Amino acid sequence: MPTDTTQAAATPDPAFWAGRRVLVTGGAGFLGSGLCHALAGYGAEVVALDAMLTGSAAHPANLAGLPVRLLKRDLRDADLEAACGGFSVLFNLAAQTSHAGGQRDPATDVDINTTAQIRLILAMREAAPKAIVVHASTRQFYGKPQWLPVTENHPIAPPDANGVSKFAGEQYWMLENRVHGRPVVSLRLTNCYGPRMRIFDARQTFVGIWLRRLIENEPFEVWGGEQMRDLTYLDDVTNAFLLSAEKAACHGQVFNLGGGPPVTLLQLADAVVAANGGGTYAVKTFPPEAKAIDIGSYHADDSAFRKASGWAPRIGLADGLTRSLEFFRPRLAAYTLEVPT
Ligand SMILES: NC(=O)c1ccc[n+]([C@@H]2O[C@H](COP(=O)([O-])OP(=O)(O)OC[C@H]3O[C@@H](n4cnc5c(N)ncnc54)[C@H](O)[C@@H]3O)[C@@H](O)[C@H]2O)c1
Repeated sequence: MPTDTTQAAATPDPAFWAGRRVLVTGGAGFLGSGLCHALAGYGAEVVALDAMLTGSAAHPANLAGLPVRLLKRDLRDADLEAACGGFSVLFNLAAQTSHAGGQRDPATDVDINTTAQIRLILAMREAAPKAIVVHASTRQFYGKPQWLPVTENHPIAPPDANGVSKFAGEQYWMLENRVHGRPVVSLRLTNCYGPRMRIFDARQTFVGIWLRRLIENEPFEVWGGEQMRDLTYLDDVTNAFLLSAEKAACHGQVFNLGGGPPVTLLQLADAVVAANGGGTYAVKTFPPEAKAIDIGSYHADDSAFRKASGWAPRIGLADGLTRSLEFFRPRLAAYTLEVPT
């Protein structure tokens, strides 16, 4: 099993963020709220725009106590010009993220991940023409990898509707860079985990329900087990977004963002059981609807991003899993209610 490593890594520049006006779409969700916490810590003036969609990881507790303004708006119908004025950085994380959800309802998936992105692009042209944009993209649309680690020039072959809509959304943002010169960075994320992720169910990722089951003293299910993943801990994702905005060398680029050394799901299951100090799991074959859209093994070649930004993951797997369990253990009741939003 790969060991945890801590590498020398660039850290965000507090002076860049102090007093800066920053808009975070999807800011009440898992990764967006993580960014809000970091930005508030650096003294940025932050607005989180979020529709608080049921089925996402949006949760009122995610922003509790932060000096961050929550603007409850839906990118599909809000007056976005009014919402976007005066910001110099946009972290764009709002999305429909469920793969099964996209399969069931591809029209809603494209409404949020593509059409609403175009609305946001047009509004930003008017209201914040010079703002830097860091867009949350995904490894999903590479499909089943033809080689590992996956480089950014890997063929695009989305295995599901969510991959199609997310790819289109990313490409509209990159057009904005090529045609209108806006500084845009797109980060193609792999499986991210950590505090404030959705643990209610496996709608977004299996890791969340694994954490929940362990804390509840219940066995969790591992589907398959030999697939490889390179997980990224929340704080490392946050640093990647902040550095992307700060570093001009990143602007205009699409980057893979990986994490620690890849592990099989069985190694990951053993690691999370160890981090919990005990627990059990059952290995199951994939349900047919999940198997049909599974991508097999994935890990990213993120050397281009590391070179441009100086980023490297700082939180190893054992540490990240321990921190995640420690976050949720005293908050299980709050995070296992489907929150009325
Ligand atoms: N978490 C991961 O492992 C992962 C992996 C790959 C890519 N991503 C991408 O990162 C971004 C953030 O993901 P996350 O895991 O934090 O998901 P999340 O569900 O926690 O956050 C998404 C947020 O967007 C909001 N939202 C959805 N549609 C909206 C709309 N129309 N208007 C306004 N707000 C809306 C939701 O209410 C939610 O709070 C997404 O773009 C996702 O595709 C995440």
